[in-house]
Amino acid sequence: MAPSTVLLILLPLFGLQMMLVAKPTARCRPLTGRVVTGAHHLLNATGPKFPLHCRPVNANISFPDSTLPTTAANRSQCPRVLWVVYKSLEGMWLTYEEHELPVGDGGVNWDEKKLEEFFTLQDRLQDEGRCLPSDEEASGLLSSYFSNVTAVIEQQDSAACGWEALRRDVIWVLKSTQQMHRSCFNWSHAQ
Ligand SMILES: *[C@@H]1O[C@H](CO)[C@@H](O)[C@H](O)[C@H]1NC(C)=O
Ligand SMILES: *[C@@H]1O[C@H](CO)[C@@H](O)[C@H](O)[C@H]1NC(C)=O
Ligand SMILES: *[C@@H]1O[C@H](CO)[C@@H](O)[C@H](O)[C@H]1NC(C)=O
Ligand SMILES: *[C@@H]1O[C@H](CO)[C@@H](O)[C@H](O)[C@H]1NC(C)=O
Ligand SMILES: *[C@@H]1O[C@H](CO)[C@@H](O)[C@H](O)[C@H]1NC(C)=O
Repeated sequence: MAPSTVLLILLPLFGLQMMLVAKPTARCRPLTGRVVTGAHHLLNATGPKFPLHCRPVNANISFPDSTLPTTAANRSQCPRVLWVVYKSLEGMWLTYEEHELPVGDGGVNWDEKKLEEFFTLQDRLQDEGRCLPSDEEASGLLSSYFSNVTAVIEQQDSAACGWEALRRDVIWVLKSTQQMHRSCFNWSHAQ
């Protein structure tokens, strides 16, 4: 065979091989549904229902629910749904990293072991969602939400209620997306 013929045969093969090699690095996956459900149950079990005495913080903290579709998401809306779940979890983690959770008198009465387990699942979802396409509009609203949460958490007398509101809102995001936008998540059990 002439060298040019060999090249003609090999070149397309190289191209194919590169496509096969490139694919796994772009690991874009929908979030695993059962992990999101687990995170929802753990965060819910971490503490009591939103305390009535915390209601005044609702004037400063209100989750931008307009970021989520109001009816079952179609295929083209799923990236937005997954992004809102992803960014909400990330925001809660960053808030936890940067601000001490108030415990004891006047603090929150949360089960820290459950909270840790929740963050283990959060970490896994953070990994899965790493290459979701970013959604600037939702990100803008969420970052405004988290700066409002932070402002409340940074004031000592409202800190505990700020945390309660954040937990309530993230539970709502996890729960409502699992119920209304179920088809956006990966429910496959195959390994
Ligand atoms: C869904 O999850 C299964 C089990 O973890 C995995 O094997 C599969 O690749 C995932 N599907 C998609 C589309 O990411
Ligand atoms: C959430 O926790 C409350 C108790 O704080 C419980 O009554 C409720 O059943 C829990 N919901 C879920 C979905 O686990
Ligand atoms: C998905 O739903 C949105 C809002 O209802 C609509 O504007 C869009 O055309 C729908 N897309 C598809 C692919 O059905
Ligand atoms: C954050 O607070 C400001 C000032 O109260 C308000 O205008 C804005 O809508 C809030 N952001 C969100 C996402 O709720
Ligand atoms: C809530 O917002 C109002 C008006 O923006 C502000 O005066 C107040 O200090 C805020 N409260 C907290 C707890 O951050």
